[in-house]
Amino acid sequence: MTLLQELESRLAAALTAVLGEPAAAAVTPAADLRFGDYQSNAAMVLAKQRKANPRVLAQQIIDHLDLRELASAEIAGPGFLNFRVLPEAYAARTAALIRDERLGVPAIGSGRSVVVDFSAPNVAKPMHVGHIRSTIIGDSLARIARFLGFRVIADNHIGDWGTQFGMILVGWKTLLNPTALEADPISELVRVYRDINAATKDQPELLEACKGELVKLQAGDAENLAIWRQCIDLSKRGLQKIYDRLDVSFDHWLGESHYNDRLAGLVDEFVERGLARVSNGAVCIFSDGSQAVEDDPFLVHKADGWTDNPAIIRKADGGFLYATTDLATIHFRIDEWQADHVWYVVGVPQQLHFRQLFAAAERWGKTGDFRHIAFGSILGDDRKLMKTRSGDNVQLTDVLTEAVERAAAVIAEKNPGLPAAEAAAIAETVGIGAVKFAELSQNRLTDYVFSWDRMLALHGDTAPYLQYSHVRIRSIFRKLDAPFDASTCQIVLGDNEEIHLARLLVRFGEVVPTILEDFRPNLLANYLLELARAFHSFFEACPVLKAAEPSRSSRLALCDLTSRTLQQGLSLLGIKVPDRM
Ligand code: ARG
Repeated sequence: MTLLQELESRLAAALTAVLGEPAAAAVTPAADLRFGDYQSNAAMVLAKQRKANPRVLAQQIIDHLDLRELASAEIAGPGFLNFRVLPEAYAARTAALIRDERLGVPAIGSGRSVVVDFSAPNVAKPMHVGHIRSTIIGDSLARIARFLGFRVIADNHIGDWGTQFGMILVGWKTLLNPTALEADPISELVRVYRDINAATKDQPELLEACKGELVKLQAGDAENLAIWRQCIDLSKRGLQKIYDRLDVSFDHWLGESHYNDRLAGLVDEFVERGLARVSNGAVCIFSDGSQAVEDDPFLVHKADGWTDNPAIIRKADGGFLYATTDLATIHFRIDEWQADHVWYVVGVPQQLHFRQLFAAAERWGKTGDFRHIAFGSILGDDRKLMKTRSGDNVQLTDVLTEAVERAAAVIAEKNPGLPAAEAAAIAETVGIGAVKFAELSQNRLTDYVFSWDRMLALHGDTAPYLQYSHVRIRSIFRKLDAPFDASTCQIVLGDNEEIHLARLLVRFGEVVPTILEDFRPNLLANYLLELARAFHSFFEACPVLKAAEPSRSSRLALCDLTSRTLQQGLSLLGIKVPDRM
């Protein structure tokens, strides 16, 4: 049980005693430490329901509260209950954490499975900034869910069957450069796609040729299928290199094409069951009137009122769409993978698509907890969508390369004596960590401004700061003559700074589960910054190696636990820690 849960259970016992019937109320971390560690508005809420005086009720609750060895309680303002945790309670909890490899994090997900759908770039189109965000946020959520005990299936639903293949096929047959393809397949495929795309603008007959190649591919033409397969293999290989560098992995890569042979049957079923109908030759899902108009994803408000906004699942020409594949994908994930939850980490612009998709899946009887975990855009210094100087979309590989170069410069300045190979490895860890942390420390829904200097600052709210804090703690242990075993130490807490450090260490187990309430890795990022700051204040105020026993061992154990918590927390964000910096 976390400390917060322990307080809630004792509060529930007191409430039950006071009210004479089973009762419970929430306890939350206090917003301001001056008033205590935790608080509850139970007395105010219950007094209102019963038309009683909240402060009187609060006093009755306190009289029945058994907080022995745990905390003291007092009434504040209109009837808040404030709890101040006793240093001995923090000491006991910290000692338990030292022996707990989960660092106090409960396995709330055990017995449930979740599919995390993230990254999902489109083959032969460059990975743009939205895919960067999806990759980093999705990977972190998958790691967090796994640590919380969920069975996680990370699935890369790549766009491998889009209309772009008409252009790629024409390009492949007419202007492919095999040497360039060998050297950097993704760039060459993107170049071919771009060149053809540009050429079609004033050559309508070329556009027709592209459509023709696409139709042949979809009809199963052997030559086109072979080229398509080669494009997919090459792209996957290129993508894998980026994922390796990012330390991102998937359990499956079931792209759109995986569902091809299920689409026709799906559309037939929708029509037969009256879930969709033909309109202007296309098969569409319309509103079924079961929802209030404002909430109905199949309606849109226009000047003349609410009108239909159907989801098309088969075009008049027989072609299937993004929505069709996604419905087939839901079917597969629910029926074959037995997923309880499906999380889609995809940008805000696809909001309508997912609202329609989830509504259609429900009508179809595919029930599960489906979530669109949306995110905003990354902006350049000019607060406009991030672009390169030439106006192109920024590519993920270029961002990573520049981050690592810049990290190398920071490290060379800080520690010029490092051997070149080690310095390069550290730069890789620091540069990639910086990009990830800049992303994950933001509220995912806000647009954020990309700033190299801010994300690499050693003393800012950055990954390098956290990595450096970890390195600094580990360096304490290098000064010891013998290996240190924290598990046998007694924890004694005296100074405010060490109590505060213990308080934060104990909070780790409370923070991690809250991330999934609204899919906010930034709660963890901010927690880790707070923990690192608490460590530095502690380290400044409290001597460690020079302290007398039992303080010395106790403080060393706190240092050790802090480094473990930093490392575990960063690893949930997909960020590694170097040994030196
Ligand atoms: N390939 C899509 C894109 O780049 C994202 C796919 C997201 N996943 C899904 N099941 N729709 O926009």
